[in-house]
Amino acid sequence: MPRVKRHDVDPLIEEFGVQAVLDAVTPLLAESRVQTLEAGLDRKLSSLTVVLENLYDPHNGAAAVRSSEAFGLCDLHTVDGETGTFSVAPDVSVGAHKWIDLHTHKSAEECASALRAQGFVLCATVPGAPMELEDIPVDKPLAIWFGNERDGLSNEAQALCDHRVSIAMYGFSQSFNLSVSVAMFVHRLAAKRRAVLGADGDLSASRREHLRARWRALGIRGLRDVLERSVS
Ligand SMILES: C[S@@+](CC[C@H](N)C(=O)[O-])C[C@H]1O[C@@H](n2cnc3c(N)ncnc32)[C@H](O)[C@@H]1O
Repeated sequence: MPRVKRHDVDPLIEEFGVQAVLDAVTPLLAESRVQTLEAGLDRKLSSLTVVLENLYDPHNGAAAVRSSEAFGLCDLHTVDGETGTFSVAPDVSVGAHKWIDLHTHKSAEECASALRAQGFVLCATVPGAPMELEDIPVDKPLAIWFGNERDGLSNEAQALCDHRVSIAMYGFSQSFNLSVSVAMFVHRLAAKRRAVLGADGDLSASRREHLRARWRALGIRGLRDVLERSVS
């Protein structure tokens, strides 16, 4: 039987319920695996997120996903617009996309509205902007927007954001590579958010339960059969 993949798990959680999935799959896992996944849940940070607008290069997108996940982010948003659907080069993301939720949006406006409704302050990253990374207020949830390799962040996206922020540059190059910028911003801002929270992670109880069920179910062979046998 094939091992269940990430995108097949959520519909089964929806159908059977979180508790039924946990009851069915937890006895199939080694205790060390359960502990590893619990520790991962403790470190997940939902109040910092990344938005990538109209990226061209799937390798850059994958590197951004990998860095964001490695720093413990839960979510990454993409505004797909003219370049079509965001894709991740699997050889670069090395499976990181299994552990971070990707949300696609048709426009910057749609993405901004969704993030504002969740209480995020929006920051546009723009080389040369006078507000620097260290000056970004970290007392509220933050969404950091990045532009594409050639054009940078669109004027529309910049206008939707609360702040325009930069990392100072001292050489002759005028900007950093996109995925390098993501790693630098997320590295610093995740550390500052964690300092404000006084904890590594900030998952709500319901998100934590959902992710716990999803992560424990990942890779179980014949998950539907396992669930059906467990609830019958
Ligand atoms: C290769 S740069 C784009 C360069 C583009 N010509 C411009 O002027 O914005 C790709 C993205 O990385 C981010 N970035 C690169 N260097 C940055 C810096 N020094 N400060 C803030 N963001 C930067 C921005 O999101 C930018 O849109």
